[in-house]
Amino acid sequence: MTHLQVIAVCNRKGGAGKTTTAVNLAVELAALDFRVLLIDLDSQGHCAVGLGVKVASGDATSHAIFTNPLATISDSVVETAYAHLFLSPADQLFEHGSGVRDELRLKQALLEPALVARFDVVILDTPPSLDFLLINALCAAKWVLVPYVPHPLSYEGIRQLMRVMFRVMSKQNPDLKILGFLPMTAAAHIRQHRTVTSDVSRQFGAHRVLSGIRSDIKLAEAFAVGKPIRAYAPSSRGAQDFADLGICVAQMLG
Ligand SMILES: Nc1ncnc2c1ncn2[C@@H]1O[C@H](COP(=O)(O)OP(=O)(O)O)[C@@H](O)[C@H]1O
Ligand SMILES: [Mg+2]
Repeated sequence: MTHLQVIAVCNRKGGAGKTTTAVNLAVELAALDFRVLLIDLDSQGHCAVGLGVKVASGDATSHAIFTNPLATISDSVVETAYAHLFLSPADQLFEHGSGVRDELRLKQALLEPALVARFDVVILDTPPSLDFLLINALCAAKWVLVPYVPHPLSYEGIRQLMRVMFRVMSKQNPDLKILGFLPMTAAAHIRQHRTVTSDVSRQFGAHRVLSGIRSDIKLAEAFAVGKPIRAYAPSSRGAQDFADLGICVAQMLG
């Protein structure tokens, strides 16, 4: 691959499974031999927690590019316990709404030659709020992946995100594409879940609805002990579903 494939994992709702998806998809793609950089744009800093990476105060972070015009993403890249997987951790003290207002700052930072040479795939974990970090992610990405919990209120959250996405597509980033909608905790026997997922299929196309991640307490346990599901419980439902997602996304990236 000669250019970075940038995937933004987005949903305007908290608790939709963004971080779980970003971390575990990054691990799966790395296991498939892609050279992966996970960039945590949410100042909650949960990507580092989920990968068991310790971040000390004063360490360089992903957010530095928004406060320091000379900062690069490479400055902040740290290794993880997983081959081919690196992390640019969040600044837990970063105040949303602070820093430079340039919507294209991240896009520009990802043109850094050292990054382009070192990685194949960049995964962006994003904050739920509609602030310039989410816009930066949508401007920098080639693909958007939308995890959602299929309950009645989530369809509205997806529509809101799509409005923002279509605005970014019409101005800053016409090449932005939907990688897919990913039902989290999908349970086909619950009628409500089927209703939301069929609404999403009708609106955006059934081929865009991915096969989903079943509800699995092991995913929450894995996060709590700082491990991706592949390492914590390799034969669990969650591990199977994320392995399938990794293969599916790898095919789409080509
Ligand atoms: N498929 C799943 N089964 C069980 N728990 C899940 C699943 N996906 C996510 N969770 C849990 O739901 C919570 C919210 O997920 P998280 O990925 O942090 O969401 P977000 O980043 O969108 O706020 C976490 O405690 C996570 O462990
Ligand atoms: Mg999160």
